[in-house]
Formats: sequence, C-alpha cells, structure tokens
Amino acid sequence: MATLKGLRDDVYRRPLATAIDRLGLGPGWRCVDVGAGGGDVSVALAEVVGQRGRVYAVDSDPAARDEVARAAAAYSQVIAITQAGEDLLLPEPVDLAFCRFLLLHVADPRLVLERMARAVRPGGWVVAQEPITSAGRVGGSPLSMPGPPHPDVGAVLPAFVRDVGLELVDAWAEAPAGVGPGPVSGYLASLTGVDPGDDPVVLPPLVTVLGKKPDQD
Ligand SMILES: C[S@@+](CC[C@H](N)C(=O)[O-])C[C@H]1O[C@@H](n2cnc3c(N)ncnc32)[C@H](O)[C@@H]1O
Repeated sequence: MATLKGLRDDVYRRPLATAIDRLGLGPGWRCVDVGAGGGDVSVALAEVVGQRGRVYAVDSDPAARDEVARAAAAYSQVIAITQAGEDLLLPEPVDLAFCRFLLLHVADPRLVLERMARAVRPGGWVVAQEPITSAGRVGGSPLSMPGPPHPDVGAVLPAFVRDVGLELVDAWAEAPAGVGPGPVSGYLASLTGVDPGDDPVVLPPLVTVLGKKPDQD
C-alpha cells in the first residue's frame, strides 16, 4: 500500500492509496487533479510522481490556488491552475486525470468526465472517486446531505466511464467507519454539523473507477 504523507487527517486516504496502488502510478507520470480543493490529492500524487513528474492542480475557485500553493509548497512539480473542469485545457496531454469529491458538485458530471478523458494521452488513465452519500449510516440510519446536485453520483460512475468512451478496467467502493470520538465522527461533524456521539458511523462509500483511454484515438 502506498504511503501518502501529504494527506494529513484525511479519513478517505485509504481509498486514494488503493487507487494509486491499483493504477501503478509511478515516477515521471504527468497528472491532473481536477477540483483539487485544498490539494490533498495533488500532494499525494506529487509524492509518487516525484520531481520528474507533473501534477496540474485545477479548480474553478481562485481561492483554491492559494490553498494548493500552501499545501504543495515543497513540491515544485505541482502547478495550480484556476479553470473549470468543463473547460479543462492543459499545456500537454497527461498520463492520468484524477478527481475526488468533484462530480457530485458539477452540473453535468458526464461532461466533466469527458473533458478529463480528452485531456489524457491515448492509453492513459481517468480515475474518479465519488460518493454514494445516501449509503452512509449514522446509528444505522441513512445519511442525507442536502446541497450538492449529484450526492449519489458514485452509484452511476461505472456507466459514465463507459459512456465517455473509456474502458472500465476496475471499479469498487470503500467506506471509512467507526464509533465514538475519532477522525470518522469528526469528519461527519464537519460535513453535517451533527456530532454522532456514541452512534456508529459509516461515512459515504467512495466509488472508485479506473478508466483507460483506448490506445488509438
Ligand atoms: C469537496 S472539494 C474536493 C477537494 C479535493 N478533490 C479532495 O478530495 O480533497 C470540491 C472542489 O471542487 C471544486 N469545483 C466545484 N465545481 C468545479 C468545477 N466545475 N470545475 C472545477 N472545480 C470545481 C470546488 O471549488 C472544490 O474545491
């Protein structure tokens, strides 16, 4: 399993480490992290690709550029760009386009996935990690999270990969779980404003899809 130092207290670091392992991400890869936010994923990718690699950290919110710059200060291979995923345009084709917790927030998830596929070289990879929010549980009851337009997009992600012309190489779901004080209940409280106390918590499963772009366009 990959060691991902850059992920701080991210309770979803295990699904990310699984994806990086199954993908075989290695030194020198060129990547884009779409919807980079605070840069946790960008830093994790940067650690693996090293200084010969490149990670474009793309986010539509200009404030994310400063956050990524802070988080990735020690990684010259990370380049922060303010751009919408719908308009994704990079200076070079990449080996990997990655997103996590992005597609639930966009108006048209399939369109953003298609733009990610377009940014990748023939034979390259598109990896998305998105939740099924309503499959989370607190005290055995379903979790609801009002707000994002596609809170359960993870449930349809494998079909979206196929729809945009990628080969679905692998797909699975993982969910952090726990009971009592700790990172899992702390994460839930930060997400929903509700302290679960001693109720058991299963956070929303994150569905990961590994899509491969055909070798020939
Ligand atoms: C929940 S955060 C996820 C951050 C990061 N990917 C992670 O997993 O820690 C979602 C991010 O997507 C960005 N975002 C939302 N819509 C976007 C779009 N259409 N194009 C690019 N970024 C977008 C937001 O600004 C935010 O930083």
